[in-house]
Amino acid sequence: MRRLNFARSYILIAVILAFMVGCTGTAVPSLTTEPPTVVVTEPPVTPAVEAQPGAAGAGDSLYPNLGNGGYDVQHYTLDLTVNDVETADLSGQTVIEARATQPLSSLNFDFIGFEIKEVTVNGQPAEFERNKQELIVTPSSPLAENESFTVEVRYQGSPGEMDSIAIPIQTGWITFDGGSFVLSEPDGAASFYPVNDHPLDKASYTFRVTVPDPFEVAANGLLTETIDNEGTTTFVFEAREPMASYLATVNIDEFDLETSQSENGVPIRNYFPTGSPEAMRRPFGRQGEMIDYFGDMFGAYPFEVYGALVIDTAFGAALETQTMSIFSKAMIDPTQPEGSESVVAHELAHQWFGDSVSLADWRDIWLNESFATYAQGLWTEHIKGPEARDKWIKDIYAYVRENRQSMSPPGEPTAERLFNAGVYYWGALALHALRLEVGDENFFETLQTYHERFKGGNARTADFIAVAEEVSGKELSAFFDSWLYNNDLAAIPALGLEAK
Ligand code: TRP
Ligand code: ZN
Repeated sequence: MRRLNFARSYILIAVILAFMVGCTGTAVPSLTTEPPTVVVTEPPVTPAVEAQPGAAGAGDSLYPNLGNGGYDVQHYTLDLTVNDVETADLSGQTVIEARATQPLSSLNFDFIGFEIKEVTVNGQPAEFERNKQELIVTPSSPLAENESFTVEVRYQGSPGEMDSIAIPIQTGWITFDGGSFVLSEPDGAASFYPVNDHPLDKASYTFRVTVPDPFEVAANGLLTETIDNEGTTTFVFEAREPMASYLATVNIDEFDLETSQSENGVPIRNYFPTGSPEAMRRPFGRQGEMIDYFGDMFGAYPFEVYGALVIDTAFGAALETQTMSIFSKAMIDPTQPEGSESVVAHELAHQWFGDSVSLADWRDIWLNESFATYAQGLWTEHIKGPEARDKWIKDIYAYVRENRQSMSPPGEPTAERLFNAGVYYWGALALHALRLEVGDENFFETLQTYHERFKGGNARTADFIAVAEEVSGKELSAFFDSWLYNNDLAAIPALGLEAK
C-alpha cells in the first residue's frame, strides 16, 4: 500500500510555509504557440517515406524522455475501475485517439507499472514491449502520415511509487487514509495511464471512474453522468478543452459539493471533504470575484467551469489541475486566512498561465510560476491597494536577495529543482520590473495579447518577449537577459531596491 512520504513532503512544506509565516500580514504567497506544427503534405495514400518508429521523447531540453514523437493525441478516455481505494488496486482501460504526424512503424507512450493485458491499434491486437517508462507499441501494419488511429490499452494493478524527477514530492496517484488523489506535475501522469506525457501534446479527456460505495470521484471538467451499479458507482467527467497530461486529476473521497457562479457567470463547483469546518472553506469564498478580476486583467476565463478541491491529508502543496485546482488541507490554514486566500489566487491564475497557455519546454517554467505568483501580488493590489502591493514586492525582493544562493535565475532552473523559489519569486519581481519598464497599459496589454494569442496551445519565453516588445515598441532583450538569465538580482530603482 502506498502512503505519502511525509519526510520528503515536509521539505516542501518547510520551504513554502516558512515563507508564508515569515510574511504574515502582507499576504505574501506561500509557494505552493502554437500547437505543434504539422506540415500537411498529401492525403494518406501510399506512404512515400518508409515508416519509422516514433521518437521516444518530445524533445524537451530538461527532460528528454518525457513525451514521445510521431503522433498527436486528440482525446483520451480513461476507464478506471477502482476495486480497492486503499490499495489503489484498479482495472484500467485507456483509449487514445490520435493522428500520425509521420509514417509510423511503431510508437511510444509513457506508462509505468501495471500488468498490461492487451494493446490494440484500430481494434487489431498489437505487439508491445516495455523499457522503463516507455511502452512501445507495434501495430500489425504501419500507420500512414496523417492517419487517424485509436490505441486501446487494458491493464491491471496498483499505481506504483513515483518520486518526481523535478520536485521533492511524490507525484502520480497517491492514497491516504480515506481516499486518494492525483498530482502529476511534471511527470506523474504516466503512473496511471499510457500517455504522451509532455504539455506540447494537449488533448481533451473523458474520465469514467468506478468506485465502491460510498466513495465519490472528482475529476477535471464537467460531471456528465453518475451511474449506480449497486455496490459501486461510475462517475463520468468530460474535460472538453485541450489539457496538458500533468493537469489530469482523479480524486476519490466523500465530498460536500458546493456550487455557485461568478458575477460574470463562470460556474464554480468546490469539493470539500465531508464535514470540513467553515474555516476550511472560507479562503475559497472569493474565487468568483477573483475569476472576474483576473478575467479583466488577463482576458476572459478560458474554461467552461472552475472550482477547488481540498485533499483530506496534510502536505505542502497545491496544484492548478485544469478547471479544478487541488489543495492539500495543509495549504489552507485557518489561522492564516490571507495567506491561504493568496494560494487560492495563485492556482486560479495558473488556469490562464500554465493551463490555457501551456509550456512548450519545461525550462520555461517561470512562464507558469512567476505569472501565478505575480497574480497573488495583483490580488493584493486589488483588495488592499498599490501600497500593499509595493510592500509585497519589497518583501519578496528582500527574500530573494537573502536566499539568492538557493535559487536559480528564473529562466534557468535545473532539472532536479525545477520548482525552486527562483521561478516563483525572482520571476515575479521580473514581471513587476517589466510593468515599471513599459507602464501599466502596455504591461496589461502584453499579458492579454500573450494569453489571447497562445490560449489553448503552447508558448515559449521568446514568444512572451516578442509580445512585450510588440506591444510596448521597446527593444527588451537586455531587460529580459538581466532578469531571467543573470546570476545577479537586478535592481528596481523606482522602488529603491538594489541587490548590493
Ligand atoms: N505548480 C504547483 C504550484 O502551483 C507546484 C507543483 C509542482 C506541485 N509540482 C507539483 C504541487 C507536484 C504538487 C505536486 O506552485
Ligand atoms: Zn504555481
